[in-house]
Amino acid sequence: MSAEDGLKKVISHAKEYGFVFPSSEIYDGLSAAYDYGQLGSELKNNLKHYWWTAMVRMNDNIVGIDAAIFMHPTTWKASGHVDAFNDPLIDNKDSKKRYRADVLIEEFVAKIEGKINKDVAKGKKRFGDDFNEEEFRSTNPNVLRRQKKIDEINGRFKSAMDTDDLEAVKSLIEDLEIACPVSGSKTWTDVRQFNLMFKTELGAVSGDSGVVYLRPETAQGIFVNYLNVQKSGRMKLPFGIAQIGKAFRNEIIARQFIFRMREFEQMEMQFFVKPGTQEEWYNHWKSARKDWHASLGMGDENYRFHDHIKLAHYADAACDIEFNFPMGFKELEGIHSRTDFDLKSHEEQSGKKLRFFDPETKESYVPYVVETSIGLDRLFLAVLSNAYTEEKLEGGAERTVLRIPPAIAPIKAAVLPLIKKDGLPEKAKEILSLLRINHNVQYDEKDAIGRRYRRQDAIGTPLCITVDHDTLTDNAVTVRERDGMTQERIAITDLAAYVDSKVGMQTLFNK
Ligand code: GAP
Repeated sequence: MSAEDGLKKVISHAKEYGFVFPSSEIYDGLSAAYDYGQLGSELKNNLKHYWWTAMVRMNDNIVGIDAAIFMHPTTWKASGHVDAFNDPLIDNKDSKKRYRADVLIEEFVAKIEGKINKDVAKGKKRFGDDFNEEEFRSTNPNVLRRQKKIDEINGRFKSAMDTDDLEAVKSLIEDLEIACPVSGSKTWTDVRQFNLMFKTELGAVSGDSGVVYLRPETAQGIFVNYLNVQKSGRMKLPFGIAQIGKAFRNEIIARQFIFRMREFEQMEMQFFVKPGTQEEWYNHWKSARKDWHASLGMGDENYRFHDHIKLAHYADAACDIEFNFPMGFKELEGIHSRTDFDLKSHEEQSGKKLRFFDPETKESYVPYVVETSIGLDRLFLAVLSNAYTEEKLEGGAERTVLRIPPAIAPIKAAVLPLIKKDGLPEKAKEILSLLRINHNVQYDEKDAIGRRYRRQDAIGTPLCITVDHDTLTDNAVTVRERDGMTQERIAITDLAAYVDSKVGMQTLFNK
């Protein structure tokens, strides 16, 4: 299945089963805005709960907050977003389509990288077990020529961006003869910087004095509350503040479903540390976050780190955790060593001291910060696309199953009376009441049992609990497991503990 087909299938499955709908669809939708449906919002809540438990509840020195989306406009001057949160954009004069200049160049480079990978694959095929990839990459003339070209392009692009030389960016696009994917033409406008923040006006005030922004990251709500939390919570370094909330960016090209949206949700944690210890904490959080992802059991081979070469204005080290989405490896989470940039800058702009008094050394200083920042919607897409499986079963039947990690599945168990009479529905509803206190469970009595299993498979329900005539005498039920389709007879008195052991949040932490 091609990457495009893979993503299309996930999108249509997500809509059909109530996970994600296009926003305001009755008016033909709004570009890059999506609504989470009845199952999507359950899955999203479970992901938030897993993150919050791991970050806030399991760490004595991390607390959570919920800051306002609107913030004093000077916040964004201090953070650098007013001056530097820009994307370079370029229009094709013939198709009138707008592109990010950096993305056009990156895609050009990716094509050359694709050719190198093909060269390597050919080498592997030719030399078999004797093939030494490292040696091949450092000696093969084709690979060396292509790599030289990539280095030249990256070098020219980096120097143009570092010096804010937008004419040089345009020249690079022209020299590389990059054509518009729609019109095929190479006639481009000049490159312009485009600020990604959404602006609006506060109350009845219009004009510059009333301008406020929709926050482009949740992190600043944490920085401006650093001292409030530190003092009211009597926190000592190192400590962290976590937050989950909406962020907004006027992305020039928002695409690939919920991967890049204009309104999205972030789960961020700023970890305040003593200056000089930031490298140690940066490495700590890299490995802690990798372990958190690994516990979801979506395959270690589907994650990789990507170190940033061009660092953001606030960072002294940064990397992404990339995930193997249907469109290839892409950023899922960022881990940034943000130095003391934000707190210092807020000190300067507000005139308020944002320091930590170290009772041991009697020193007062601005803490350094290590940040972990994950997009909730991207995590949702990672889970959904990784879970989506079409299977051929014995006897030629087929099923579509969402192999969602059980602890975060929207519905944990379905309770199914074998037939709609003889007291089975009543017994099933008793079991439903027993389980629903701790888990989101569903009752379903429509259609034959096989069809009900398929429906639950398609929405990723890990357990199906069938109440049959024997249940009325032996007080036991048959529990069918989603992935292996194995069945087990469980006494009703043991059922709550059994379900918990299979789908409880603790199963993620036991790993
Ligand atoms: N506070 C740091 C920060 O915002 P970022 O790398 O710009 O860093 C962090 O964003 C995460 O937010 C990304 O790794 C990604 O998961 C998510 N994200 C960023 N832009 C997004 C968008 N337009 N749509 C969906 N998720 C996005």
